[in-house]
Parts: sequence; structure tokens; C-alpha cells
Amino acid sequence: MNKIALWCRDLDHLIGNQNALPWHLPEDLKRFKKITLNQTLIMGKKTYESLPNRTLPKRKLIILTQDPNYAVSDSENHSTAYIKNNKIHLHTEKEKASLDNDLYIIGGAEIYKLFMTTPELQPEYIIETIYNTHHPKHTISGIFLNPEIQKNLDKNYTQQLISRTKEPALNVLLWTHKNAPENKDLLKKIKGISNE
Ligand SMILES: NC(=O)c1ccc[n+]([C@@H]2O[C@H](COP(=O)([O-])OP(=O)(O)OC[C@H]3O[C@@H](n4cnc5c(N)ncnc54)[C@H](OP(=O)(O)O)[C@@H]3O)[C@@H](O)[C@H]2O)c1
Repeated sequence: MNKIALWCRDLDHLIGNQNALPWHLPEDLKRFKKITLNQTLIMGKKTYESLPNRTLPKRKLIILTQDPNYAVSDSENHSTAYIKNNKIHLHTEKEKASLDNDLYIIGGAEIYKLFMTTPELQPEYIIETIYNTHHPKHTISGIFLNPEIQKNLDKNYTQQLISRTKEPALNVLLWTHKNAPENKDLLKKIKGISNE
């Protein structure tokens, strides 16, 4: 099982504002959809609640919450989970198998911080989209990636530029953990999708 985190940030490491994305970037959303289709995704409760209709079609969702009674919108495809002793535990036993699949970590800020600063939970790969802009002043109170994350990336990961577009100004990087095996299939998939 590989853990793969995905995020889109601007040059100031802004990722959210008022429980939504601070921008509308259809290219990035399309890439996100193609990469995550038919996969298992894990996210914090606030990010889950920001999704249209609280779902992402054709994907299994695991929602992190401390609340064992939290009601999801689609119990066939959504599970809830919590972290204990640096491990992910489902609140109910019935979908245990989904933790054996590749796991795509899709935010938000609390969850990226949790996974990136806990050695046992660190993703092997990170697909980072950098939107080459500074956040507008009104998002000054927005949600930013924790600064420890960049320190960890610089120390423990190597980066590859996967794609670059001018309009909108986006760079996509693949970060690979120094202890992760080279994953040619993932690289091929990300490169293929990013350069379509
Ligand atoms: N730009 C991007 O790529 C991107 C991607 C995703 C999200 N976002 C943005 O990020 C923002 C949301 O981020 P956020 O940090 O406010 O919230 P979040 O990380 O989405 O969710 C936080 C919630 O996760 C649960 N949680 C945290 N640690 C946990 C643990 N150890 N075990 C179980 N549950 C745990 C808690 O729920 P309970 O309180 O129920 O326990 C907590 O309230 C939104 O603006 C969203 O649009 C941006």
C-alpha cells in the first residue's frame, strides 16, 4: 500500500479560505479527478464537508473524525476513521479492506500536517501543484500549509517537475520519499495525465 498526498498551493502556501478552495482551476480539478478515479481517498471532516454533495463519485472516501457516530452521505462508499498510535483505524470494522489499497491523502491543512509530521504516516509520494501567484489580501486569514511540511519535503524527499503550464501558471511536482521505491507506474500515470 502506497500513500500519496495531493495538494494545490500558491506561492505563499495558501490552500484554503472559508472552508473552500481559494481559486477555481479547472485544469487542476481535472487532473485531480483523473489521478484519484477508482482509488481510496482519505480526508479531514472539514474538507469532506466542503465537497459538493459530500461525495466524490467513483471513489472510496475515508473521512477522519474523532466522532464515531458521524453520519456520512453514502455509507456504501464512505467510511470514517481516526488516528491512534500513529495508525489509521476505521470506526467500523466492515470496510477494513480499503486500508490495504493505495491511499490518496487529499487534505485539508490539519490532515496534511498530521501525515507529513508523523514518520509512521508519511506519504511515499506527493503530487504538488504550485499555482504561481500570491494570495490576494482578502485571503490573509486563509488556511496555509504548515511550515514544517516544506522543511520535511526539503529534507526527506526528492522532487521532479512533471508538468508546467503558463495559463494558468501551474507547476506540478512529484516528490518521492527517500525511502520509497521508485514507482515507475505512478510516475508514468501522473506524467501522462499531467501532460494531456
Ligand atoms: N488546496 C488544496 O489542495 C486543498 C485540499 C484539501 C482541502 N483544502 C482546504 O483546506 C481547508 C480545510 O482544512 P482544515 O485544516 O480546516 O480541515 P481538515 O483537515 O479538512 O479537517 C479537520 C478535521 O479532521 C478531523 N481530524 C483531525 N485530526 C484527526 C485525527 N487525528 N483523527 C481523527 N480525525 C481528525 C477533525 O474532525 P472532528 O473535529 O470531527 O474530530 C478536524 O476537525 C478547506 O478550506 C479546504 O478547501 C485545500
